[in-house]
Amino acid sequence: MPILSERMSRLGTESAFEVLARANALARQGRSIINLGIGQPDFSTPGHIVEAGRKALADGHHGYTPANGILPLREAVAADLHRRHGVTISPERVLVVPGGKVTMFFAILMFGEPGAEIIYPNPGFPIYESVIRFSGATPVPMKLREGKGFSFDAEEVLGLITPRTRLIIINSPGNPTGGVVPRAELDRLVAGLALHPEVAIMSDEIYGEMLYEGTHASLTTYPELEDRLILLDGWSKTYAMTGWRLGYGVWPAALFPHAERLAINCNSCVNAAAQYAGIAAMTGPREPSARMVAAFAERRAYIVPALKALPGFTCATPGGAFYAFPNIAGTGFDSRTLQSRLLDEAGVATVSGTSFGAFGDGHLRFSYAASLDALKEAVGRIGDWLARQKQQAKEKVAV
Ligand SMILES: Cc1ncc(COP(=O)(O)O)c(C=O)c1O
Repeated sequence: MPILSERMSRLGTESAFEVLARANALARQGRSIINLGIGQPDFSTPGHIVEAGRKALADGHHGYTPANGILPLREAVAADLHRRHGVTISPERVLVVPGGKVTMFFAILMFGEPGAEIIYPNPGFPIYESVIRFSGATPVPMKLREGKGFSFDAEEVLGLITPRTRLIIINSPGNPTGGVVPRAELDRLVAGLALHPEVAIMSDEIYGEMLYEGTHASLTTYPELEDRLILLDGWSKTYAMTGWRLGYGVWPAALFPHAERLAINCNSCVNAAAQYAGIAAMTGPREPSARMVAAFAERRAYIVPALKALPGFTCATPGGAFYAFPNIAGTGFDSRTLQSRLLDEAGVATVSGTSFGAFGDGHLRFSYAASLDALKEAVGRIGDWLARQKQQAKEKVAV
């Protein structure tokens, strides 16, 4: 048996992929499964973007590109950030990578080592905690508060900082909760961070264009953070491009060479055709993205009250992304049991809140990247299943 490095035992996973595999296996057996487990838009990549990728291949863009990405793409990213946030960012600080995940992997590897601490949102995207542990650093959970719409309390986060803290990860709008951190909370956090100039911040803003109320408060708009803020963003969600594997990080000038070296060691560059498609996405018509967000808004307007109406469920209204994260404690089931029984017995795939960290206990994640009809059918099935459990419990008592 080959002997693995010790660190491999510390690497976690993303349960949504396991749920997807189980849902697909059940579907292959002929079961009708509604998949609200996976976090990807249920839309195709807009045609003009696909066409740009196809043209790049036809035009002969088959070789390596510069490790940091082709210049017109990095310029498009800088222009896009200016359009969205009014900020001026040099394309020289943009590192194009194969998907949003890669920026978090690089950032955590850059700062994580035994003895270091990294603060991360919990419940949060499971890869944060997984890679922090992998790096040898200690994961320090920043508790997202259901009562605050799954935002954090800035004072509480600042109180977690110790001399060992190297990096703080922020994700708004957030996965799995859809929670949005209000600008006033960010103001308080940034003001407090002035006392901790050695701590880096990674802001995962991959859902930044999927917002249903107000405008997105980006950490890029705080110039005082410029020399220690890593922005994580990408094309996966905004342009329905999860399978193209295209993302970017904006790095502080002093950190950029380290990030680029990680890219050279890991992936050399991102596939050339995807980069050309990425230019078309950012410089082309915005209507396809706007239509997708409008569809998510309509689904949110249906699913949140529908979940609230299920017995034992309560649900905070998500401000962004395409997730609802209801509290299911009142059903009497724990999250993991409810996740597997809803999949096996009601044919509805969701993800247990515990897959997103200890503070996700008592919740389920519903991805509403599915048609309105599918959502209605799913909620109906869950309602029927809960009613059957209640009936069976009654019959047991009667016997
Ligand atoms: C919060 C968050 N960050 C990053 C990612 C990764 O995106 P990508 O598929 O581009 O790697 C996801 C994907 O689900 C996510 O939810």
